[in-house]
Amino acid sequence: MEWIGPTWVEVDLDAIGNNLTTLRALTKAHICPVVKADAYGHGLTVTGLFLQQQGVRLLAVSDVDEGVTLRQCGVTVPVLILTPLLPQQAPQAVLHNLTVTVTSKELICTLAGLGQACRRIVKVHLKINTGMNRVGIPPESALEYARLIAECPYLMLEGVYTHFADADHNNGFTRKQLQRLLDVKSAFTSSGLENLLWHAAGSSAFFTLPESHLDLVRIGSALFGQTRVGLPSGAALENTWNLYTRIVQVQRVAKGAPIGYNQRYTARRDSVIGVIPVGYGDGFGVFPDNFDLWRHLRSALVKLVRKPHQVSIDGCDYPIVGKIAMGLSCVDLTEHPRALELIGVPVRVQARRTTISRRIPKVYTINGKPALIYRHCCYWRPVVKNSELYAIAVSVKTAKEIIERRNRDGQDS
Ligand SMILES: Cc1ncc(COP(=O)(O)O)c(C=O)c1O
Repeated sequence: MEWIGPTWVEVDLDAIGNNLTTLRALTKAHICPVVKADAYGHGLTVTGLFLQQQGVRLLAVSDVDEGVTLRQCGVTVPVLILTPLLPQQAPQAVLHNLTVTVTSKELICTLAGLGQACRRIVKVHLKINTGMNRVGIPPESALEYARLIAECPYLMLEGVYTHFADADHNNGFTRKQLQRLLDVKSAFTSSGLENLLWHAAGSSAFFTLPESHLDLVRIGSALFGQTRVGLPSGAALENTWNLYTRIVQVQRVAKGAPIGYNQRYTARRDSVIGVIPVGYGDGFGVFPDNFDLWRHLRSALVKLVRKPHQVSIDGCDYPIVGKIAMGLSCVDLTEHPRALELIGVPVRVQARRTTISRRIPKVYTINGKPALIYRHCCYWRPVVKNSELYAIAVSVKTAKEIIERRNRDGQDS
């Protein structure tokens, strides 16, 4: 039995399930959960297995490795790879029965050859560039590509899709993109190409442009409780993810004392400073850093008005102070009434989910209680002893049973 800590991510499986129910109630389209970037930091395998249990028809990932990981843990529903493959990646995709996004004739030929060699039908979705200008083929080439795919006996064109560039800001541009896809759809229908899955919307368009739902919506952020746009009245999404760590040191510092590397912060009063064992090595406080003078000036201005990173203790927020280091960060605990007694106390840390290291254990809760843990690439059963969380390693079969039990017994059992 091993102790879990000092740092862990708590994932609320009930909240993910409830968000899926909320989203399903708002559309007739199939929901295709996007589980790229380790399921937006929620852990790819447990989240994938959980969503499969929830009856989703399709999952979407970024790359072949993520698709293979899902297959290896027992996910059998179709998995769509969103990023176009290089030819070297195609054999793995075919071997693991993954659905491939195609945007080049070369990839179509490679997949057709592999399908024939393995005597296996390879499902593909054609991606149309309607305005993002990142990946996809021009709308006017779509029919030619579809005909090329139809000529290959081991390829099956299952879907056609596009991706919106600005659905959280610009409804006009999003409508134009949608219309370009719908024009392709009309041309396909006129040519007798029917029974395909047409899809375009991600989370933002799901809410801002319901007519873009088509047959399928690819939803990441909203499923995990986050949105950049307003929700329809009465709809609410639940938070699914929290990062916790424990305070490992507390000390008094005098007014004017510098704290951490480069003396980036000096105490503005006599203070109590706590230390937490997370830093940029764990993906905490990490932002891309291309040198761009304008961006640096803007972020300096934003820092002046925005609250710095915070940690929460018993519902109250305390600021991170000084430079976030590789494995340690400092918190100003001066306002806490028992600041000097906080060593070992768990605190909730505000962090960006997708940058937080996959090494940090994930504790999955059902009915508000730890039900399953994913740590060191293994599954563990939680054991609470003297209010502390310990874990015993279990097989993937047991992990699946724990997830299945939640669905069978219902979350209120
Ligand atoms: C092609 C594609 N579709 C859908 C999504 C999901 O987007 P969101 O998280 O806004 O739902 C993504 C995510 O980046 C994506 O790349």
